[in-house]
Amino acid sequence: MSEQYRQSFIVYISPAGTTETVARTIATSLNARRESCTLCNLGTAPASTADIGTALASDKQTLLFIGSPVYSSHAVPTIIEFIDRLPAVNNSIAIPFVTWGGATSGLALPEMGERLLNRGFILAGAAKVMAVHSLMWQLPDPVGIGRPNADDLAQIELLVSDVIDNADAGCPRQLSLDVLNYQPAEFVPEMLQLSVAKAKTILPPRQVDHARCTLCGYCRDTCPASAIELNPLPVFLPNCFICYNCMRLCPEQAIYADLEPVYERIRSRVTHYAETPATEIFQPPVM
Ligand SMILES: Cc1cc2nc3c(=O)[nH]c(=O)nc-3n(C[C@H](O)[C@H](O)[C@H](O)COP(=O)(O)O)c2cc1C
Ligand code: SF4
Ligand code: SF4
Repeated sequence: MSEQYRQSFIVYISPAGTTETVARTIATSLNARRESCTLCNLGTAPASTADIGTALASDKQTLLFIGSPVYSSHAVPTIIEFIDRLPAVNNSIAIPFVTWGGATSGLALPEMGERLLNRGFILAGAAKVMAVHSLMWQLPDPVGIGRPNADDLAQIELLVSDVIDNADAGCPRQLSLDVLNYQPAEFVPEMLQLSVAKAKTILPPRQVDHARCTLCGYCRDTCPASAIELNPLPVFLPNCFICYNCMRLCPEQAIYADLEPVYERIRSRVTHYAETPATEIFQPPVM
């Protein structure tokens, strides 16, 4: 099928940039197959999402690749809310993907997959990709250092190729949601108990150093959740999903938090879950 009959969107959020690396690999792989696509980073350009609703309502076959980092065993709220706002569809294909920082990929893929199925999408594949842990940027030896690597991204290229072949077949093969429920049953209850909202009450709060802050507004302008107001110092709004980007990116180091206890907790979660494989693509069975 030529590109004039099909359109692809790659929608994602990526506070620390690795989900974006995967999204760009998907875009390059689509272009290599002569498929045009639109990248949409919900953290920087939420306005462009209107085009996606229009495309989904059209007769063209639409492919929606949708990516989230794993936060506290879940997809981030921005992605879940985006899926929940989509119109009901038919003849559209979705491929959820997540990046995770080596602790656990949690329940992010099945919860995205279930929601996409409920909107009427055909699930034509999925992926979890190992990444450097974005809460450990201050350490020389973060969990997941060097990931995603070339092998991880080669798997994504394979997935895209399979999705295109599958879509070309006319009646695309479906991925069963069961395949995405890969977490051992004994871990699921504790993962369900966690949430981004709960993590906000556990993770160290960010403080603003009044003496250092120049009121430049960079934290406000780069917050992927638009959750900072200057009043005149930065104030964090309730929709903050604790990515710590503001702390990481402040040019004056005026935002601080003690992440030392978090590092220990992450390393103990790595041992506790011992999740393998690190990167995996999920493809529907060949009939
Ligand atoms: C608040 C927070 C919670 C996180 N929770 C998890 C987690 O439960 N499991 C995990 O493996 N990684 C976790 N991570 C790490 C991210 O999932 C991982 O680094 C991801 O690739 C970041 O994506 P990005 O670079 O696109 O922002 C967390 C990171 C943050 C900031
Ligand atoms: S980026 Fe840093 S210096 Fe600029 S307003 Fe935010 S906290 Fe203040
Ligand atoms: S306020 Fe800071 S921690 Fe919260 S979402 Fe925005 S950048 Fe991330």
